[in-house]
Amino acid sequence: MKTKLFRIRENLEDLARFNSTSGKGLTRFSLTPEDRGARDYLAGQLRQLNVEVFEDAAASLIGRREGTDPSLPPIMIGSHFDSVRNGGIFDGQAGVIAALEILRCLEENNIRTAHPIEMIAMIEEEGGRFKSGVLASRAMALGLTLEELERHKDEDGISIAEAMSSFGFDPSRIAEARRKPGEVRVFLELHIEQGPVLEKEGVELGIVSSIVGTDLMRVNIQGRPDHAGTTPMDMRRDALKTAAAVISEIPLLAIEQGNGTVATVGTLTVRPGAPNIVPSEVEFTVDTRSLNVSSITAVKNRIIENLEKTSRVDGTTFSLEQLLQVDPVEMDEEIRRILQDHANALGFSWRSISSGAGHDAMIMAPVFPTAMVFVPSKGGRSHCPEEWTDYEDIQKGVELLYHTVIAMDRR
Ligand code: HGY
Ligand code: MN
Ligand code: MN
Repeated sequence: MKTKLFRIRENLEDLARFNSTSGKGLTRFSLTPEDRGARDYLAGQLRQLNVEVFEDAAASLIGRREGTDPSLPPIMIGSHFDSVRNGGIFDGQAGVIAALEILRCLEENNIRTAHPIEMIAMIEEEGGRFKSGVLASRAMALGLTLEELERHKDEDGISIAEAMSSFGFDPSRIAEARRKPGEVRVFLELHIEQGPVLEKEGVELGIVSSIVGTDLMRVNIQGRPDHAGTTPMDMRRDALKTAAAVISEIPLLAIEQGNGTVATVGTLTVRPGAPNIVPSEVEFTVDTRSLNVSSITAVKNRIIENLEKTSRVDGTTFSLEQLLQVDPVEMDEEIRRILQDHANALGFSWRSISSGAGHDAMIMAPVFPTAMVFVPSKGGRSHCPEEWTDYEDIQKGVELLYHTVIAMDRR
């Protein structure tokens, strides 16, 4: 193997230290002191290599190793380095460290590629702080506006734009993060599977075929605050009564669609939030995913129908805010074949696998040739402190990507 296991392990364990939670797992939200620590650590690692280190207008950290032909677009490798709340130390981080190790190996083996090679560490893929996920990749592949950065706020009411400014970035320049089709040769992302398939089948690597579509919306239900003791049941406008009735129907709507469709209510806020006040406002998110767009639409339409029906009966009102909408996407056929050929040549077992998790790759894929490699997740667990992948398994993924980068460079 050209890649070094001890460095992969050391980098991941070092990176995991930049963590805001004294509780369990890793919490590293974007543009926080923990982001700053991780960013500086990665920049420090990059500066030990013969690469240019810079940040783009979307606060992504980039290490660029020049090729022999600067007119060629870069081969980009990376992932995100923000985490969910109380998540694991491998989600996103493994892909960033994989890119760092590949840059090191190119240097160590005196490989001078024709294409520039760029390692990228992106912010706010999870949307943990601002509920606006895959932010950095959307800024690069699709282009973002200042208005969007001002609209999305964290729990303290701080907008992405304000957080960027306090971090030294100028949010009004966000459009500069945009890269047009052709300006990235390929985007390659190593990621933990976050599911049970590879481990259950005893397969070493997953070569991703497709990524599910995602629809994320926030529902706000308005009722009326009243005394919990003196207000008769037929005089209430109980926002939580409406929410509870609608939320309880959602799992069944996904199950009815089949084909792996899932729907999750991951956040629920009740206001004013006192035992003796009838809830006047409830806010919750609905995250619906499927490889089949019509299934996502069907679930969403039924939720809206239930909201209309139930709120009429309860005397409440509701509004919806669309937070994210991404269609299902296929990974690049040519790169998948190269990955398969090199996995075979390296003697790694692999299988084609579709991703139920969202990734920056799903945003990059419609604009740049994109591929993903999965490494197994212990017990299929992720987005929790128990998230684990053996370092040896990560190394196999890095090794495959390393050889694929060299092969892509020669095409
Ligand atoms: O939600 C997801 O699938 C990803 O981890 N952001
Ligand atoms: Mn995640
Ligand atoms: Mn991830």
